[in-house]
Amino acid sequence: MSYLLHIDSSSLGEASVSRQVAQSFRDQWQGPVVHRDLAAAPVPHLTAAGITARITAPGRHTPEQAKAAALQDELIEEFLGAGTYLFTVPMYNLSMPSVFKAWLDQIIISERTLSLTGPSPAAGRPALVISARGGGYGPGTPREGLDYVVPTLEAVLGRAVLGLDVTTVIPELTMAPVAPALAPLLPLHEASMTAAHDKARTLATTFGTAAAA
Ligand SMILES: Cc1cc2nc3c(=O)[nH]c(=O)nc-3n(C[C@H](O)[C@H](O)[C@H](O)COP(=O)(O)O)c2cc1C
Repeated sequence: MSYLLHIDSSSLGEASVSRQVAQSFRDQWQGPVVHRDLAAAPVPHLTAAGITARITAPGRHTPEQAKAAALQDELIEEFLGAGTYLFTVPMYNLSMPSVFKAWLDQIIISERTLSLTGPSPAAGRPALVISARGGGYGPGTPREGLDYVVPTLEAVLGRAVLGLDVTTVIPELTMAPVAPALAPLLPLHEASMTAAHDKARTLATTFGTAAAA
């Protein structure tokens, strides 16, 4: 049976809302899991050696290219070996944590994880992205349109690059309990948290049923 690949990127450890919601998913998930914590063990940024290794025959690799290629091989094998994905990617400065972007840059390689001529190898596999944020970015809010995390990940993990079947859970207004300016929005935050945990639990069952079929 293939495994769930669970990748975390919040720097906040157990205090992370994204990780706490992921725990609700994990509590319901039956089956093997491979867990990678990018905050605890960041992967390096993509280097010139890592880029040029992709277009150089392995027998002609410099030591730097060979090392960079070995890391890409390890991460890609881990990515492609999974049947289901769980990503926690909070909003940092309207975007994703740099550790997650570094991981994406290491694993997205033409004709290995994406195809320019047909479906990508992981196309159609279910993926959950949990993205907590301090504010609110939903339709009709003053910050609508400023979320550069979820739309980007829907494109990169999903339809435009890796082809995963992406579902999102977005616990929002997480700063409401501590930011006086957001205090009036505390009930909305609490409702968002309840909905996020509930949806994560439900999706674990849905994804698990699909994986077992
Ligand atoms: C470096 C940093 C940048 C942040 N930038 C934003 C932001 O642009 N918009 C926002 O709504 N919240 C922002 N926040 C708040 C986080 O999104 C919020 O604390 C969220 O709960 C973090 O996810 P986590 O709890 O899973 O770690 C930022 C937090 C940090 C640490």
